[in-house]
Amino acid sequence: MANYLVTGAAGFIGSALAKDLILKGNTVVTIDNLSTGKESNIPTGCKFIKGNTYDKDIISKLDDYSFDAVFHIAGQSSGEISFENPIYDLSTNTASTLLLLEYCKKHGVKKFVYASSMSTYGDHEEELVDENSKTEPKSFYAVGKLASENYMRIFSSFGIQCTALRFFNVFGYGQNLDNLKQGMASIYLAMALKDGHIVVKGSKDRFRDFVHVKDVVSACELAITIPRDEKFDVFNVANCRKIKVEYIIKTIQSNIPGTTVEYILGTPGDQFGIYGKNDKIRHKLGWNPTINFEEGMKDFIEKTKTYFQN
Ligand SMILES: NC(=O)c1ccc[n+]([C@@H]2O[C@H](COP(=O)([O-])OP(=O)(O)OC[C@H]3O[C@@H](n4cnc5c(N)ncnc54)[C@H](O)[C@@H]3O)[C@@H](O)[C@H]2O)c1
Repeated sequence: MANYLVTGAAGFIGSALAKDLILKGNTVVTIDNLSTGKESNIPTGCKFIKGNTYDKDIISKLDDYSFDAVFHIAGQSSGEISFENPIYDLSTNTASTLLLLEYCKKHGVKKFVYASSMSTYGDHEEELVDENSKTEPKSFYAVGKLASENYMRIFSSFGIQCTALRFFNVFGYGQNLDNLKQGMASIYLAMALKDGHIVVKGSKDRFRDFVHVKDVVSACELAITIPRDEKFDVFNVANCRKIKVEYIIKTIQSNIPGTTVEYILGTPGDQFGIYGKNDKIRHKLGWNPTINFEEGMKDFIEKTKTYFQN
């Protein structure tokens, strides 16, 4: 049994991770400001500190705890929102990382795992990227994620094993259907369930690499359990599969017949598409994705089809 801090456990990925860690007999504390998360998502047994991860007073509330690892999952996850409020994005996604790394250094926490993003790569002529591919962020959000990785690289020299997991498009049951600025699959699904009509911002030929939330949880856990020499590592968490927007829509339409679609202008900083090699995480951490896009979407739709009916 171990003690963990999982920031953002009121959100989609953080709640799934915290729940699994608690199920496995561990103790979990979370900090969440409930900006996009819901208190009801925080799993039973998880100690909840309400506040901002970029607030020193909130971080000082952790002084009485002793953690075996910190999973920094909380953050705002929309490129679009980072253009509306770049300073908030910097605080919430990057200053928070720095504060938590300082906390780890001060309190001797040995492992730090961060929810980074495929957006750090930007667009590439080579659509298939690995961890050595050039990073050229196209949004302030992606700039902040890459900066966090660099803070981690430096803090790893202070004895903290730092792992940046570059999540590709995470999807699955538990994604917030009320937030139409975050999560491609959940945005389209919410529109289909609510209005029977999907409005797509941007081209139908854009594509993403979808990874199921359960597989993301296992990547987070493997990052702290598999022994390795490197003090700093970056891993793609991807299925290595290119899925076009058009295919997402077709998948939803086949599960919810009669759904119509309309394409309008895209949003600033939106990536056209890349997909991720996953050889490194497979070989070094023994990670194996277990749920494909079709199965994951079917399950997501089954469990949420009455969501907007009350
Ligand atoms: N979902 C994806 O496809 C994806 C892809 C790449 C990276 N990520 C990253 O993974 C992380 C989790 O994403 P998610 O999809 O679960 O989003 P989410 O919005 O469902 O969860 C984020 C949680 O963090 C909380 N939060 C946000 N800012 C905070 C702050 N300053 N202090 C305290 N709590 C704060 C929110 O209230 C929410 O509960 C984010 O950092 C995101 O950038 C997600």
